[in-house]
Amino acid sequence: LREHEEFTKVKNIATIELGRYEIETWYFSPFPPECNDSLKLYFCEFCLNFMKRKEQLQRHMVDGKKNKVYGQNLCYLAKLFLDHKTLYYDVDLFLFYVLCECDDRGCHMVGYFSKEKHSEESFNLACILTLPPYQRKGYGKFLIAFSYELSKKEGKVGTPERPLSDLGLLSYRGYWTRVLLDILKKHKGNISIKELSDMTAIKAEDILATLQGLELIQYRKGQHVICADPKVLDRHLKAAGRGGLEVDVSKLIWTPYK
Ligand code: ACO
Repeated sequence: LREHEEFTKVKNIATIELGRYEIETWYFSPFPPECNDSLKLYFCEFCLNFMKRKEQLQRHMVDGKKNKVYGQNLCYLAKLFLDHKTLYYDVDLFLFYVLCECDDRGCHMVGYFSKEKHSEESFNLACILTLPPYQRKGYGKFLIAFSYELSKKEGKVGTPERPLSDLGLLSYRGYWTRVLLDILKKHKGNISIKELSDMTAIKAEDILATLQGLELIQYRKGQHVICADPKVLDRHLKAAGRGGLEVDVSKLIWTPYK
């Protein structure tokens, strides 16, 4: 009893963060000693893992190292719809971004993409999948847009890992076309490939290939020059179809992986 009284006096953790809530605690709880110097603990509301720092929690939500079984199972599932990708068991090396539709029964996965924590080839996306029942709703382009927003935060250009599947190429081409045409229209074509790359985090080679495909590039005096007649831009924009769902960058809280 004495010991109990002693414990109830010394509250070790003052607050916890759990999902949307920050909650003041009431009593002592015997957390492992390394937690006792933290006033606040961050809980994952799904698996109840607890961490000392907010960044650890954010990482925990997506890190293949911390959620190994989930990451591996996701790879098995994805491989059913991906033809020429190797199945990596080494999920430690990747972060997984899982997109869900949420309703009153919970969050339902509609797709995901994986991203190497460190890529020497400047890959900003390894594998992308939208589960078949959810395809053609703009989720693929949303995930692609999201992967480029992460690259912008890192201050790096990025490109998807090759080879691309037919559907992957169609989706990327659609995304690149729309993003580049929008900027070209705004700048009346007065912009270089390097500037386009800095603004969008799309790798220069992908920009060149996209604009060549749209016949907006001429080769003059050993240089690629963008030739963007407003009428041609409008024609391409009309043909480019729908944009994906928009990424609200103000909601993106992310620290690049160190
Ligand atoms: N037929 C024709 N065009 C299609 C089709 C289709 N069945 N599916 C997608 N597209 C094209 C269209 O241009 C479409 O844009 P639109 O609807 O405005 O015309 C565009 O791709 C993207 O459509 P979204 O709805 O944004 O993408 P979706 O959610 O369907 O996901 C994805 C695209 C991820 C490629 C999906 O088809 C998929 O998971 N495929 C199987 C796995 C795969 O091939 N992944 C890519 C491998 S490459 C890599 O991982 C780096």
